[in-house]
Amino acid sequence: MLNLDSGDGAPKNRAREFSQARAVKQRGGSAEYAPVMTAPPQSTHAVLGIETSCDETAAAVYDGGAGLLAHRLYSQAAMHAEYGGVVPELAARDHVGRLSALVSETLAAANLCADQLAGIAYTAGPGLIGALLVGGSFAAGLAAATGARLLPVHHLEGHLLAPMLEARRPRFPFLALLVSGGHTLLARVDGVGRYQIIGDTLDDAAGEAFDKTAKALGLPYPGGPELAQLAAIGQTGQFRFSRPMTDRPGLDFSFSGLKTAVLTALPRATTSQDRADLALAFEEAVTDTLAIKCQRALEQTGLQQLVVAGGVGANRRLRALLQAASEQRGFELFFPRPEFCTDNAAMIAYAGWARLSEGGDATAGIAARARWPLHTLTAPP
Ligand code: KG4
Ligand code: ZN
Repeated sequence: MLNLDSGDGAPKNRAREFSQARAVKQRGGSAEYAPVMTAPPQSTHAVLGIETSCDETAAAVYDGGAGLLAHRLYSQAAMHAEYGGVVPELAARDHVGRLSALVSETLAAANLCADQLAGIAYTAGPGLIGALLVGGSFAAGLAAATGARLLPVHHLEGHLLAPMLEARRPRFPFLALLVSGGHTLLARVDGVGRYQIIGDTLDDAAGEAFDKTAKALGLPYPGGPELAQLAAIGQTGQFRFSRPMTDRPGLDFSFSGLKTAVLTALPRATTSQDRADLALAFEEAVTDTLAIKCQRALEQTGLQQLVVAGGVGANRRLRALLQAASEQRGFELFFPRPEFCTDNAAMIAYAGWARLSEGGDATAGIAARARWPLHTLTAPP
């Protein structure tokens, strides 16, 4: 049993009590119990990251000295596909069923016990509130039991810092293009928590436009990767859409008109090849627009390094376009590997570690915010 009022106030004793607790592992409806930790407490610089903001349950351990020690992810995509999109209540319930076992598995892969952790980072927002609360409650419980520092992390900060997980890393300051399901923005990144947004979307995010257009084309959820796969067999030049807002100055984006243009062209796409051609024309319009705005932002800021983060950063055409531009124009380009572009816990563990190593934030209780504008974040004290 967890006993937080044991009286001695020593985190390691609480940790030992917690070590007798068991992680629930769901298998075929029946619950099986596995030990969470066994070894005596020992201090490390390792941070456990927990991501449950949407439809991925993920855990990872990042160590300041040794780097990323382990990461695990379970995607709920198949469960939500039946409904054509994420069902928030189902997402939260599924996180409850899987998180504990996933954390145990990740700690075992990292060869660590929970009471050896220096910090426990979790995605505190933005995201689905019920889903966020699952990760936040778990993290807060484990931190209370082990004495590890509790580190709430902004999901977009995780994405922005994800390239730091790679061997070749950007140096501050750099320009970041963040393209996810809910956000499309250009930011000047001067350090951890020091983000100046210089371009934003006026309506749909790039990922959202991919998902909505995929749905219109009859593709299953999650739409973005499916549309990209269909576009790969498309022929260029059969359809053409304008590159929104590139004909005027500024760094903002707008993608909802593009989605409507695809809907208008849809009746002309009668064969499966037509649909692939249409998917390619849409992908070309979005990725060209993103590439044009990135180059414009590099020119305006004078920055020499571009980081691309978020789910749409996994798009092959976008990566190839920006790679060609970087070779031609001589700026440095940084992408996380594709699996760290989409949601994952490695980026949350890293962001938590980065904040902890710079002093960390004092937190009490569970923070969970469905909405949390990136520009309100501040640097660690
Ligand atoms: O960053 P992410 O995993 O989750 C959010 O924080 O939103 O981004 C998910 C978005 C979805 O809209 C998905 O369709 C899109 O990224 N996405 C892609 C690709 N892979 C994921 N879009 C285009 N091409 C891809 N290969
Ligand atoms: Zn994300």
